[in-house]
Amino acid sequence: MATPLILDCDPGHDDALAILLAASHPAVELLAITTCGGNQTVEKCTLNARRMCSVAGIVDVPIATGARGPLLGSLHIGEYVHGISGLDGPAFAEPTVPEAAESAHDLIVRLLREHPEPVTLVPTGPLTNIALVLQAHPELKENIREIVLMGGSTERGNDTPYAEFNIRVDPEAADIVFRSGLPVTMCGLNITHQALATPDVVDRIRALGTPMGDLCVELLTYFSASYLRTWGFTSPPLHDPVAVARVIDSSLVECVEAPVAIETHGRFTSGATCVDLHHLTGEPDNAHVAMTLDVERFWDLMIGAIASYG
Ligand code: BDR
Ligand code: CA
Repeated sequence: MATPLILDCDPGHDDALAILLAASHPAVELLAITTCGGNQTVEKCTLNARRMCSVAGIVDVPIATGARGPLLGSLHIGEYVHGISGLDGPAFAEPTVPEAAESAHDLIVRLLREHPEPVTLVPTGPLTNIALVLQAHPELKENIREIVLMGGSTERGNDTPYAEFNIRVDPEAADIVFRSGLPVTMCGLNITHQALATPDVVDRIRALGTPMGDLCVELLTYFSASYLRTWGFTSPPLHDPVAVARVIDSSLVECVEAPVAIETHGRFTSGATCVDLHHLTGEPDNAHVAMTLDVERFWDLMIGAIASYG
């Protein structure tokens, strides 16, 4: 039976490919795409989700707008990576897929209540929407099977020296999620940096010779330039689809159990994930921490998903 899943995202180049993967694989049933402010303003992220779904012909998945910014403070956007639109590179036509009338919050709450099975949440942006739902409706925890998120790192950060972007944008929300008591899988930079879109990978996508393959090549080309300019990467890491891949086939992503705490007040380190890999703190484990990716099978999965759109 397919795993019911809500993708909570901030598209974003890698979020866009996560949408393609989640909407096409038979092992998951994509119930909704919800957005929050992150890579760009929430309005732009919703527009980008609608753009991707319109191009891909994903017409039966509601797209709902969520939080404009973090629980505390103002929104820090990832324009330096994803551009002014949040999905710079390709030219998109006016999207045909509409935005849902419900807010992301109301849609998530309704789906959790109504779905006969517990639902898996896959956040690939800041954790604001998820934290707001958990705060407002703690009783719905039993309707959540697990949270498999892209965020954090066992090593250093990307948005600041010690903080990964998604956690850094809303550390208080991340703190709520990691202390929720729910099963949480953290797909951090230490694993997503294994998912490099190398020239070989891009060639394989180009060789599909399909409109969607060409669009993905354009997205990856823009993303690649951002990664080279900002961090000196010669191939960009495709972060967000790794979390979706973990839900589709858990054997793709090897995890260890560890206590993870979120730095919310650090003078220099706000948003850092303190991952106690060696159990030095004596704190109980609260996360499955993704460590090793089966890179070959991951790209087979991702490229197969792109190919399925023709
Ligand atoms: C994360 O930040 C965003 O730029 C990406 O979409 C990804 O979710 C990586 O740190
Ligand atoms: Ca993202």
